[in-house]
Amino acid sequence: MKDFLRITDLTSDDLALLLELAAGFQDKPGSAQDLLTHRIVPMYFAKPSTRTRLSTAAAVARLGGTPVTVGPDELQLRRGETIGDTARVMGSYAAAIVIRTYADADVRGLAAAAPIPVINALTDGHHPLQAVADLLTVQEHFGRLRGLRVAYLGDGGNVARSLMEAAALTGMDVAIASPPGHEPPERAVVSATAAARRRGGRVALTHDPAEAVRGASVVYTDVWLSMGDPDRERTRRLRTLAPYRVDERLMALAGGDAVFMHCLPAHRGQEVTPGVIDGGRSLAFRQAANRLPAAQAVLYALLTERLEGHR
Ligand code: CP
Ligand code: NVA
Repeated sequence: MKDFLRITDLTSDDLALLLELAAGFQDKPGSAQDLLTHRIVPMYFAKPSTRTRLSTAAAVARLGGTPVTVGPDELQLRRGETIGDTARVMGSYAAAIVIRTYADADVRGLAAAAPIPVINALTDGHHPLQAVADLLTVQEHFGRLRGLRVAYLGDGGNVARSLMEAAALTGMDVAIASPPGHEPPERAVVSATAAARRRGGRVALTHDPAEAVRGASVVYTDVWLSMGDPDRERTRRLRTLAPYRVDERLMALAGGDAVFMHCLPAHRGQEVTPGVIDGGRSLAFRQAANRLPAAQAVLYALLTERLEGHR
């Protein structure tokens, strides 16, 4: 498997390997410090980023390489050079390419043309680096994944989808509570349901947040208006998604050992109350810290050709 574009490209063994490598890099950050010596990794971000940009840059540095940020206005892409030509040229100098943009098709096009690994740093449809860090965090906290229930509340966007797909590969139970029209794409749900079943897990969709959190060990949410969502939708979304806010009352309905998770950035008072995200059950900042070993694991696994993939 050359690229890391979405969770469904991974086998469950691939995901298990990434989690094992990431845990190893937590303990020994410098254990592969020569992998990228004298090599660069271009990082193209068409959307803002704090965690992904910096954790990926830190991961490249820990592997001995140099991250090079290339903004959308700095490349000749802006003046009409094709993605294909850009990818070929980058392949002459770089070890891998990290890209955050809007359309998944653009990232697929870049990966198809690039002779080197391409890593999806978030698209409208997927956030696979986040999902690896999330499962690393759950595993670190509970000591296992299989059999745990993760409840996701709110907008079924990129983070929800990658989380659902990753959890399904591990035998976790996933419950997603979203308002009508905000569910993850149906095809993704069908395929995650089948993947979960094969490993003794379940995927359930509901419109009822209380039903989703009952028995959950993890209660997860994300912003209500993602990057790229039209701002004119803001008022409607704030109204529609309000019943899905993670507050103290919903956390009390979850399991007694339940933790709160959020990919960040957070909007306190919208998708989560300050008491929950800043409280003792919140793993949000542990997740953010785990983005670094997770990114290091993904880079390492791709560059050493350790991932099988499905094809
Ligand atoms: N969670 C996450 O991807 O954060 P950034 O947008 O800051 O990278
Ligand atoms: N769903 C959010 C995630 C941010 C990390 C977005 O795409 O903006």
